[in-house]
Amino acid sequence: MIKLGGSFITEKDRPYTVNWEALQVGIEQIKAFYEKHSPHMVIVHGGGSFGHYETQEVKRKRGFIDCYGVALIQRSMMILSLAVLDTMVRKGLPSSLHPPHSFCKNENAYECNYEVIVDDLEKGLIPITYGDSVFSDKGKIISGDDLSVAISNKIGADCLIFSSNVEGVLDKEGKVIKEIKKGERISINKNEVFDVTGGILSKVEKSFLSNARNVRIVSGKDIYRALMGFEVGTKIANRS
Ligand SMILES: Nc1ncnc2c1ncn2[C@@H]1O[C@H](COP(=O)(O)OP(=O)(O)O)[C@@H](O)[C@H]1O
Ligand SMILES: [Mg+2]
Repeated sequence: MIKLGGSFITEKDRPYTVNWEALQVGIEQIKAFYEKHSPHMVIVHGGGSFGHYETQEVKRKRGFIDCYGVALIQRSMMILSLAVLDTMVRKGLPSSLHPPHSFCKNENAYECNYEVIVDDLEKGLIPITYGDSVFSDKGKIISGDDLSVAISNKIGADCLIFSSNVEGVLDKEGKVIKEIKKGERISINKNEVFDVTGGILSKVEKSFLSNARNVRIVSGKDIYRALMGFEVGTKIANRS
């Protein structure tokens, strides 16, 4: 289970801008691993300057996420997801795109219906999904981090790799925290541009909910090495 962070594949401070170079770098590594080990894998991507920005704008202009707001956010994420799909397929990876709003009724990623994703995975496709907006009693956001953890457990993933635009979880001095144990208090600097679903601390908290053997938060440049089990980025010691 690989999450391509929105901070990695988009330019987070430029609305609606794909970071094509980073996207290529990330997917090149996924391809290298795929060709070497023919793994089953699922890709989730984040919102970056598409979903997070759009949500912020919807809330600013409309006060809350109404039906039209949901449509705007869904559209922005669908555009970004096509960039991911396109890059995957151009590199020869047999990918299939699954918008969460067609298999999740609300924002709780644990209540989504993953049947079709699991089915595709078993057939040899590489399912792609992403953080999205759905309308339940009002407009809600499904976090890509939540989807990643829920899917990692659903498919019994060995690895759950979160990638972003920094080398891992950074401490107050900006140095990578090598390992975080459950319940351990960490002190970090929060300098997120915007993240409507909780940011880095909540990513760390959520990642402890995965049963995967190898859970890491790494730079998008280190996805291959993380999948290989090398000591890169921040290890989430979810099993000790
Ligand atoms: N202390 C920290 N350590 C690591 N990342 C941090 C820290 N503080 C803020 N961040 C930011 O957290 C963000 C993670 O976002 P990411 O999950 O990749 O994006 P998205 O939510 O769009 O998928 C990055 O932009 C990163 O710079
Ligand atoms: Mg995030």
